[in-house]
Amino acid sequence: MSKSPHSTVGSSLPHESAHLHVTGTAPYTDDIPEQRNTLHAAFGLSERAHARIAALDLSAVRTAPGVMAVATLDDVPGEKYLGPFLHDEPIFADGVTQYLGQPLFAVAAHTHDQARYAARLAKVIYEDLEPILDVTQGAAQQAYVLPPVRMSRGDLPAALLSAPLRHQGEFFCGGQEQFYLEGQVAYAIPGENQEMQVFCSTQHPSEMQAMVSHMLALPATCVRVQCRRMGGGFGGKESQSWPFATAAALLASMTGQAVKMRADRDDDFMITGKRHDFFMRYDVAYEPDGLIRGVAFDQWVRCGYSADLSGAVADRQVFHSDNAYYLEAVDIRSLRIKTHTQSNTAFRGFGGPQGILCIEYVIDDIARRLGLDPLDVRRRNFYGKEERNVTPYQMRLEDNVVHELVEQLEASSQYRQRRREIQAFNDVNPVLKKGLALVPVKFGISFTATHLNQAGALVHVYTDGSVLVNHGGTEMGQGLNTKVAQVVAEEFGLPLASIRVSATDTAKVANTSATAASTGTDLNGKAAQDAARKVKQALIAYASDHYGCDAQEISFHDGQVCLGTLAPMSFVDFVRQAYMARIPLWSSGFYRTPKIHYDMATLTGRPFYYFVYAAACAEVVIDTLTGENRLLRADILYDAGRPINPAVDLGQIEGGFIQGVGWLTTEELWWNDQGRLMTHAPSTYKIPSVSDCPADLRVAFFDNGNRENNIYQSKAMGEPPLPLAISVFLALRDAIAAVAPEHEVVPLDAPATAERILNTLDMVAPRRLGQGWSWRSSTSPLSSAMSE
Ligand code: MTE
Ligand code: HPA
Repeated sequence: MSKSPHSTVGSSLPHESAHLHVTGTAPYTDDIPEQRNTLHAAFGLSERAHARIAALDLSAVRTAPGVMAVATLDDVPGEKYLGPFLHDEPIFADGVTQYLGQPLFAVAAHTHDQARYAARLAKVIYEDLEPILDVTQGAAQQAYVLPPVRMSRGDLPAALLSAPLRHQGEFFCGGQEQFYLEGQVAYAIPGENQEMQVFCSTQHPSEMQAMVSHMLALPATCVRVQCRRMGGGFGGKESQSWPFATAAALLASMTGQAVKMRADRDDDFMITGKRHDFFMRYDVAYEPDGLIRGVAFDQWVRCGYSADLSGAVADRQVFHSDNAYYLEAVDIRSLRIKTHTQSNTAFRGFGGPQGILCIEYVIDDIARRLGLDPLDVRRRNFYGKEERNVTPYQMRLEDNVVHELVEQLEASSQYRQRRREIQAFNDVNPVLKKGLALVPVKFGISFTATHLNQAGALVHVYTDGSVLVNHGGTEMGQGLNTKVAQVVAEEFGLPLASIRVSATDTAKVANTSATAASTGTDLNGKAAQDAARKVKQALIAYASDHYGCDAQEISFHDGQVCLGTLAPMSFVDFVRQAYMARIPLWSSGFYRTPKIHYDMATLTGRPFYYFVYAAACAEVVIDTLTGENRLLRADILYDAGRPINPAVDLGQIEGGFIQGVGWLTTEELWWNDQGRLMTHAPSTYKIPSVSDCPADLRVAFFDNGNRENNIYQSKAMGEPPLPLAISVFLALRDAIAAVAPEHEVVPLDAPATAERILNTLDMVAPRRLGQGWSWRSSTSPLSSAMSE
């Protein structure tokens, strides 16, 4: 990686709150000192997925110990239905329950335990209705939360008929719980003259402000939402922090007392939506060398009971169903299915990983059918540089580096050599089988709703030379505040210690977008840079006027201001002097992403400012008798442009990748036939732990500045690492293929849990038992191999 020409930007500085995180002194929403008489709230939840509420008797709830108020839909003074896109979600179930876990009412009591206890005393009489519990049922009943979207290009029917080879298949991919370590929480404090202050763990303070004000029938000026930091959001706090913020605010408004709503982990699982699971069917036509002539995808996407962000998520799945490949003829049909389950929502990648998985699964099938190395089939289909470089939505790829990047990773991971070694290993090991896969990722950066790509910031320079920054983004551990502070430090030539970023606050920067779509640094970094530059311009104009030096010769470095041929001054002395001369030392800044546009009607345009390119090579081993498996090694090459903070960025790549591994291997959401989510706690839902990380994890940055004028030529870091975990899923498929008949595809759904792997093994190689090793004879060879 070439050395950064900047002093602060490009440096691996620690996360601004790292010392607070590791000493346990970083305050989260639940740590905010409580006002006297603070009440604690809990929801009463529906016990039925779909039922008419014949009677709701809350008398025992109201008289339970410590209870001060009970809120139902009738108590809502303003809008009773909310939602980030359609207002189709009642604050509490409105006569009919829409999923098991839906809030029916909320109760406020003196303590958290009293509220939780009281909430269970409700007597509800349900009249059961038929629920829709998965996409198959939803599709059969044509139950949709939003109309379908269809994106096509070329003559697919002709391609399917004329190409020499054709293959059809289907695939199911499960959802994923965000599992932020800090659960959903909001703390509402009523103020004077109808004011409501809400501290909320949310990626979207402005939306929480809007929801609370609509619900209370107050102007936005009455509602102030603040968020200092989150203990993770992962998309789960983009829209779905609202039930907690509004319930706390409603009860605070009813009682005149501060109210905290902090969800217990199980309740959090039961109430909130997750990553969208989906079922897909595909039909692909191809040549004997693996070139895809045309492909059709039908994607049935489980949205849950309401629209929430599902339209944009399913759109992004469509946008990413090409991944790094030019699809000459393509037809993608995306059906947004309604089910009586939690309303699925944003989760890191926002449909992108699901789309990428669709095409990667198909490419794997083609390779398997042809007996070719999947990497060769991938390469055969890559987008070109000068031609074959227009996406199905008519965006020209101007920044394509997938060829060079994959070539570099192929060499650095010794892909070909390891492929041979794995073959040799598999030839002599009857039970353990290894698999390998190298998968590229092309990920579009920008909100697909163009108007959301804007940000504002404030920069205040104080007369002691310290600088306070406020911007519309939220900190959830990803290091956004650190990177924005680095940008401002760079502008003023100051050390990072001189810059402080204050809590996100709707009273400071208005009308902000969610911190999402990986755009936090791109948008807020540029807005803060704009604000800092305005202050600098005022200072330069003053210096040039006062000292008579050329504005071009005035610069800010190392805590000093250089004034042409004059002796440099310290930054502090200089700003003090400027203050005395009545120069404004603060400014607002604004940024809107250039070049992007998208027409929802024709499904064409340039929805993304640029693409992030990356690739991962994963090696796994499976035990063919038990389905147990391990990720042995992963090599990742990531095009981060010029990284603003390589250390923080590395953490994002590793974390995102491992989170993706969890999605595709162990994290299984399972609802019973009543629609009750049975995997609603760490005891039944398995996210990756430290020991699931591969012993050998090698991450490198691809040296490539962003060709667009993104902040300091960097590229986004938040979401694109997650789909790199598809390499692990396909490596598992590859390992299973070692025991399957040649040219036969391996039907493996996701997540590839040990159980699913075993089922697939039983399907493709039912007679593998007893081939040299008996499962009765000793401990599993995988366990012994792992303990070596
Ligand atoms: N990293 C941590 N530690 N915690 C999080 O909640 N969220 C991810 C990613 N990285 C997340 C994270 C998601 S879903 C997104 S969209 C981006 O961070 C948002 O932040 P950014 O735009 O500043 O990268
Ligand atoms: N990506 C991520 N989050 C979003 C988007 C998007 O395109 N649109 C609205 N929220």
